[in-house]
Amino acid sequence: MVALIGPGAAGAMADGVPPSFTQDQAERGQSAYRRYCQNCHGSRLDNGEFGGAPLNGQYFAQHWGTGSVAGLYDYMRARMPADRPGRLSPQTYADLTAFLLSRNGYKPTETELTPDADEHQRMSLRRE
Ligand code: HEC
Repeated sequence: MVALIGPGAAGAMADGVPPSFTQDQAERGQSAYRRYCQNCHGSRLDNGEFGGAPLNGQYFAQHWGTGSVAGLYDYMRARMPADRPGRLSPQTYADLTAFLLSRNGYKPTETELTPDADEHQRMSLRRE
């Protein structure tokens, strides 16, 4: 597929910023994870059942580490929990994103991650 690079896309890449989420938010995300995700993805994020893919380590880095927060958030909102996709609130998906990022070595900040799509596009998961 040919990427459509307009001024918007170029701009978004130029000001890619690190993801922001708070520690409290990651903890809220952890509660939601235990409730809605753990059966399939496991207590350690890579020891799940029912085919749930690993959500940490190299596997996570390869799938999500070169994209933006939007890729991860949109995937989860569209596809997870696999038995009832899209059933959670946008805020809960944001909290779950915060939880997964914190478990993958991204550092909490002072600002919560919101469900805002433009914000997600700007936040890059690339590491230095
Ligand atoms: C009923 C089982 C089930 C539940 C519940 C579930 N998942 Fe999944 N999840 C899966 C399966 C199976 C895959 C692999 C899907 C595929 O490869 O198409 C997956 C894949 C994923 C992936 C992509 C992993 C990757 O890198 O390819 C993410 C992220 C994810 N799930 C997050 C969540 C979150 C967050 C929740 C809770 C809201 C959740 N899942 C609940 C079964 C589940």
